[in-house]
Amino acid sequence: MSNETAFQNRSTRRLLRVLAVAIAVVTLLCQIRMATAADPVKLTTRADQPGPKISPIFYGLMTEEINYAYDGGLYAELIRNRMFQDKPRRGNRAGTVSNPAVEKNPNLIDWWLVVDQGADCAIDIDTNEPVNTIALKNSLRLEIKSVAAGQRAGVANDGYWGIPVRPNTQYTASFFARASEGFKGPLKVAIEPNKGGAAFASGEVPTLTSAWKKYTIQIRTGDVQPTADARFVISASNPGTVWLSFVSLFPPTYKNRPNGMRVDIMEKLAGMNPSFLRFPGGNYLEGSNFENRFDWKKTLGPIEARPGHMSPWGYRSTDGVGLLEFLEWCEDLNMEPVVGIYDGLHLDRGKTTITGDALKPFVQEAVEEIEYITGDTSTTWGARRAKDGHPAPFKLRYVEIGNEDWLNNGMRDYAGRFAMFYDAIKAKYPDIQVISSLRSKDHYDHTRRPDLLDDHFYVNIPTALQNAHYYDHYDRKETRIFAGEWATNSPRGGPVGHMAFALGDAAWLTGLERNADVVNMHCYAPLFCNVNPGGMQWSINLIGYDAVTSFGSPAYFVQAMFSNNRGDVVLPATFDPLPMLDAEQIPKAPARPGAPRRESPATNAKYDGLFASVTRNTPSGDVILKLVNVQADPQPLDIDVQGVPMVAPTASGQLLTADLAAMNSVAEPTKVSPKSFTITNAGTRFRHELPGHSVTVIRLKTR
Ligand code: AHR
Repeated sequence: MSNETAFQNRSTRRLLRVLAVAIAVVTLLCQIRMATAADPVKLTTRADQPGPKISPIFYGLMTEEINYAYDGGLYAELIRNRMFQDKPRRGNRAGTVSNPAVEKNPNLIDWWLVVDQGADCAIDIDTNEPVNTIALKNSLRLEIKSVAAGQRAGVANDGYWGIPVRPNTQYTASFFARASEGFKGPLKVAIEPNKGGAAFASGEVPTLTSAWKKYTIQIRTGDVQPTADARFVISASNPGTVWLSFVSLFPPTYKNRPNGMRVDIMEKLAGMNPSFLRFPGGNYLEGSNFENRFDWKKTLGPIEARPGHMSPWGYRSTDGVGLLEFLEWCEDLNMEPVVGIYDGLHLDRGKTTITGDALKPFVQEAVEEIEYITGDTSTTWGARRAKDGHPAPFKLRYVEIGNEDWLNNGMRDYAGRFAMFYDAIKAKYPDIQVISSLRSKDHYDHTRRPDLLDDHFYVNIPTALQNAHYYDHYDRKETRIFAGEWATNSPRGGPVGHMAFALGDAAWLTGLERNADVVNMHCYAPLFCNVNPGGMQWSINLIGYDAVTSFGSPAYFVQAMFSNNRGDVVLPATFDPLPMLDAEQIPKAPARPGAPRRESPATNAKYDGLFASVTRNTPSGDVILKLVNVQADPQPLDIDVQGVPMVAPTASGQLLTADLAAMNSVAEPTKVSPKSFTITNAGTRFRHELPGHSVTVIRLKTR
């Protein structure tokens, strides 16, 4: 064999070996692909066979004072314990720092003595000569016995886990003050870094008098970095005694409302495009006892005359968010109020439930509450609303009698209590829809037929997936449903849920939309959570925040995607074949350290792998596909849109997909968030692939 021939043979063998390896690699890759890619599933929808109409107020919000929802949350007030009424509570400064002032008097919680070395100063609570006896019985006495030139003495408030400092921002500080004869001002107010150094913003009140007077000062930050590592300080550099009451500090508020709401959180809510607000609770409506129910009359008028009360969630509420503020919140976000009416039940197992004749004054108060909301200024309570600053009446179509009266032995006497409220409300306001706080599954014998029943669902992921069919077989002749609290939230854990929970929510929401002839409206709960240590009483909430930053959970984004893409009529939609999953194949909530694992689906249960709600927005003609893939693998879909003349090739959409354990936080507020996309292959028949563990919304143009 010539050298040349031997060389050619060697080259051929090498080539063959390379080819063989390449074929093996390609075959392996194909096998892997075949093992993971699901077979295409056909999704058929028929736009010419519209089903139930969807209520225009289908998507809304539920709110109450829990998890520092208003105080330390949405309500923009920055001073904590502004009325010197609070007592030590779980979570104050994470329980790590002891405050000598508080050891002296518990009502000094959140207030700290500030003394330069050498100055002699003391603080205490004083009940003599209060500003008013309704709400401001306590004042803070600051006694500066001696202070050398250039020194200061005063008090600091560290707010709700810090005073939020934002650049180039104007803050409104206000307080009542009086001083001992001979005290020479000024009083200096400042937002200061906790670690010391130059103030972020400061101002002063030049002189005080011996009589109480309210002082209001604007202070402004410069070009500073946002931080919550700051406190609010009131100090003086002259000896004497100063009394302070109702110390308040507000940053700019949403729509610049006085006594208003925090801008970033309101913007988050606006992003959900909600149609109604269910308030004031929740357990916050009922209260732990009669004294601490939501007593709406005590929440009206000047904030310094609102006594506040204990929320059932373990801390005092200022009632800065009172009935009118709830209504203005609705107005600002174009939401309808759904007002919870106190009905005599408290969170005490029925020990103090008010019934019969004793309930009559509260039935009358409910009618007055509706007059406050809806009456014109010729009515007693409409005139009161005008005096409180809002002459125009609000629209009110829904009230709910009580909250969760299936608990606390409420069912024992609910029929009677419900009938009293129902009769009185319908007699004066026949168009108002009266919601029962009992659930459809209670099958309760109301003596008056409620307009809606309030079903609540706090569930784990397997149940959320199954509950997507909860109303499929609901008797259409039965009372319609307001799903007034729901969340995929088990096993419980942190302040907000992971992507896995959001998949459960999305599947459930497709079921609510498909059953829009049963479900009139619905809202997730709870809405808010301050994520600082001690801020949370209820885990898994929709929106989290600290003093500076707020963020939506993955569940928040699911709701925003759904609510911002609403149809007005349900279209039939079927998967063929519908992939079915075993219990071990469905999304699992990640284990949380220390949390009990309560998620134990029956091993033989089967779960849908895909969920859909298809609706049409009649004015635009858009067909809206909401698609949830709870399978780990991508799912190719052959989408067949029947009964439309055409579907434009270009369609817009949003996709939410992430690891099941992924979640958002103050540090990573949008780690899990929807991405917008455009497809150009849409048509009456087209293929679209849903990523594993994903929620997709696609809007198809049919004109
Ligand atoms: O959303 C938290 C609580 O759950 C509500 O206050 C109550 O209505 C329900 O039990």
